Amino acid sequence: MKLILLGPPGAGKGTQAARIAERYSLAHISTGDMLRAEIASETPLGIRAKALIDEGELVPDEIIIGMVRNRIQQPDCENGFLLDGFPRTIAQAESLLTFSDIDRAVCIEVPDESIIDRMARRRVCPACKRTYSVDIDEGDEFYCSECGTRLAARDDDKPETVKHRLEVYAEQTFPLIDFFDGRGLLSRIDGNGAVEEVAQKIFDLFEEEDPYRGDDVDN
Ligand code: AP5
Repeated sequence: MKLILLGPPGAGKGTQAARIAERYSLAHISTGDMLRAEIASETPLGIRAKALIDEGELVPDEIIIGMVRNRIQQPDCENGFLLDGFPRTIAQAESLLTFSDIDRAVCIEVPDESIIDRMARRRVCPACKRTYSVDIDEGDEFYCSECGTRLAARDDDKPETVKHRLEVYAEQTFPLIDFFDGRGLLSRIDGNGAVEEVAQKIFDLFEEEDPYRGDDVDN
């Protein structure tokens, strides 16, 4: 299975991608995570990407397309992959379809008000990279339940940056919904509701089409 997860910033793509990838044994390819790894290693690409990401801008198409093209040639993608955060422009989508076929693009839909709230609550473990949604009324010190490291907010989750990311999404990424719909590849999922409820809606979508898919996993 070769999947794309679409949706605005904070829609829950990363959260759901981890569950989908585990259930169907797919390689989870997050361009955001790949860029953050470059930033952490202070590579030339990471230094350039950080300036753009912190402003809520997209990284240039040619850089991202090259990264994904190389990544999906790795052996762990032979059983299929899940693209999280790519493509994000029409140029990326058109290029992707020249070097890979795609079975389905799932768009997770969440209104802007919920996104702003989710971003305010998001904290990430700098050590093991787990993502949390915290209760901000309980103060500003939170610790990773896995490794005990103090959690941090993402630099691009500042309210003004989130607002700009939503504008960039509307302008550059939203047109991909029509792009994939026109090719008969699009499914829409309501991203409101508890994380596990949203996950179940996505699993139902795949398993209604192929009732044997997911047979070897617990429900
Ligand atoms: P990236 O990391 O991909 O950011 P994004 O697409 O904006 O998405 P997010 O990671 O912010 O959110 P998400 O949808 O994964 O939500 P999550 O599951 O974390 O990219 C970052 C930057 O890199 C971009 O801005 C750009 O600069 C650059 N970049 C990346 N890819 C690029 C590309 N292809 N081209 C060009 N530039 C690129 O959930 C969010 C929060 O909500 C969490 O706290 C989570 O716990 C919580 N949550 C999740 N689900 C629920 C739920 N159902 N109910 C309540 N809370 C929930």
